[in-house]
Amino acid sequence: MSVASSALLSVDSAPPQPFRIVPFDGAVGAEVLGLDLSQPLNGDDFQRLHRAHLDHAVLVMRDQRITPEQHIAFSRRFGPLQIHVLKQFLLEQHPEILIVSNIVEDGRNLGLGDAGKFWHSDLSYKLLPSLGSMLHAQELPSEGGDTLFADMHKAWDAVPDALRRVVKGREAAHSYTARYAEDRFTGNWRPTLTAEQLAQVQEVIHPVVRTHPETGRQALFVSEGFTTRIIGLPEDESRDVLQQLYALSVLEQNVYRHRWQPHDLVFWDNRSLIHLAAGCPAHLRRKLYRTTIQGDAPF
Ligand code: SIN
Repeated sequence: MSVASSALLSVDSAPPQPFRIVPFDGAVGAEVLGLDLSQPLNGDDFQRLHRAHLDHAVLVMRDQRITPEQHIAFSRRFGPLQIHVLKQFLLEQHPEILIVSNIVEDGRNLGLGDAGKFWHSDLSYKLLPSLGSMLHAQELPSEGGDTLFADMHKAWDAVPDALRRVVKGREAAHSYTARYAEDRFTGNWRPTLTAEQLAQVQEVIHPVVRTHPETGRQALFVSEGFTTRIIGLPEDESRDVLQQLYALSVLEQNVYRHRWQPHDLVFWDNRSLIHLAAGCPAHLRRKLYRTTIQGDAPF
């Protein structure tokens, strides 16, 4: 049996994998040691990983020598996959994978070069935002290129009572296009959206504070990347409140900084976290493959 087809067989009869979950010292995240995702994962092992994902919100699995098919098959065990609106940057033959890359070849951008330049939760601009995303390192720069993750449960815990009273029970608008063409790091990587693409990213409304559907924990659910305003507040007040919430979301003690190593697979929970790509010098090549798992309507 080929390696690819053996890993696609996630049969309960597969032998157990003796992996360990080692939490990081900081607010969120854990490393999974001794897991090989190129091999089948039985139901019990899958349940352990699922539990760890809920407990730690970011799982780091080092040195995963997996194919795009294996990456997709593993991601699908957590839910249906979402196809990114920027079809230009989907992996050929594998539209479930978004290429995140600053590489330009023959004058063409290979992937979305500035993905994650603002703090955000993936696809919060959809009615069904993402449950979680898996990013698999393909090519890494010798300098920079880290990804930061901030704990939105702790962010909500940090909101003072007076501000809680202002936002509790309120909803906010999320828009993919609000900051789409902003030029912050290394230039504008964004292709003009077609009418069909624009139709897929109409503004949506979500609660400012959401309940995690699997753990029942409360989390702040706004981000500078996609949230545009709090419904029902005057524009100035909405802007001011959002700025305060953004500042409370990224307190240093609540942030994990991932420094990429070759073949890392990082799986995070978009219901519990926001994340940011720290960027790297423009001349250094960076390429990662991302799958995005669909979640529930936030409540
Ligand atoms: C993303 O926002 O999904 C990309 C993160 C990164 O490139 O580090």
